Amino acid sequence: MGEIISIVSGKGGVGKTTVALNIASALHKLGYSCIVVEGNVTSPTAALYLGYLPAERTINNVLKDELSLEQAILTHESGVKLVTCSLSLADLASDYERAFEMIKQLKDKADLVLIDAGAGLDEEARMAMLASNYVMVVTNPELPAVIDALRAVRLARSLRRKVLGVVVNRHNASLPQLPIGEIENIVEAPVIGTITEDKAVHESFAYNHPVVHFRPKAKASVQFKRLAAKLVGERIEERENVLLDRLSFWLHKIGLKYLP
Ligand SMILES: Nc1ncnc2c1ncn2[C@@H]1O[C@H](COP(=O)(O)OP(=O)(O)OP(=O)(O)O)[C@@H](O)[C@H]1O
Ligand SMILES: [Mg+2]
Repeated sequence: MGEIISIVSGKGGVGKTTVALNIASALHKLGYSCIVVEGNVTSPTAALYLGYLPAERTINNVLKDELSLEQAILTHESGVKLVTCSLSLADLASDYERAFEMIKQLKDKADLVLIDAGAGLDEEARMAMLASNYVMVVTNPELPAVIDALRAVRLARSLRRKVLGVVVNRHNASLPQLPIGEIENIVEAPVIGTITEDKAVHESFAYNHPVVHFRPKAKASVQFKRLAAKLVGERIEERENVLLDRLSFWLHKIGLKYLP
């Protein structure tokens, strides 16, 4: 039985959908099953990024008893499994509270379920957090996004959800941005992943693919794969740590220090 993680941010546009789709594709390549659920019902984008225009099957069909939940799972060639919602304005009035309750059943169908939450910290984000066991917060390394990330962390904890940590997306070492240590202090949670600003991310979505599938060697892809492996405790992280340990041992020997 899998775990459910909601991916939230507070501030919009920081990369929640990008993170969700790339983790799912990376986990598929590691041999795990992962379902992304569109939790951004007022402004759904995950299906659009993958080229479903529109998606032929949605959670709204399930709410109308036209499909089973299993039948609403779309499988993309990148390995991402997705449950999305209707783009129709008329369907906005759907009983999404019931939909979020149903999402919990997906636990039995995958190793990991990722709810790609909407921006903000209103009812939509709250429903996503309540439907999940864990919360992952995405931010950019700029103060307004980081402050909203702190608010998301506090909201998750007030709802008694465990915060896995924060992902800093669109990091650009050549710009004056908040250092990771400072972000950790502000958000009161550990940073579990840093993803570089990488034009391959944007380019890949133009071809309807997550970057880990379309440009597997791009810098952001390597970082997404590392984050995905960390989530499931995979060995690629351990192997990497062994290498880093060896590297820092030898650097130490010659009087240098390795700073990860
Ligand atoms: N690491 C990155 N490098 C370059 N571009 C990125 C990166 N991450 C995200 N983007 C781009 O930023 C834009 C916003 O990303 P995304 O839609 O994932 O954000 P979001 O938090 O889900 O937004 P919303 O709050 O509207 O749901 C997209 O155009 C995406 O391609
Ligand atoms: Mg989004």
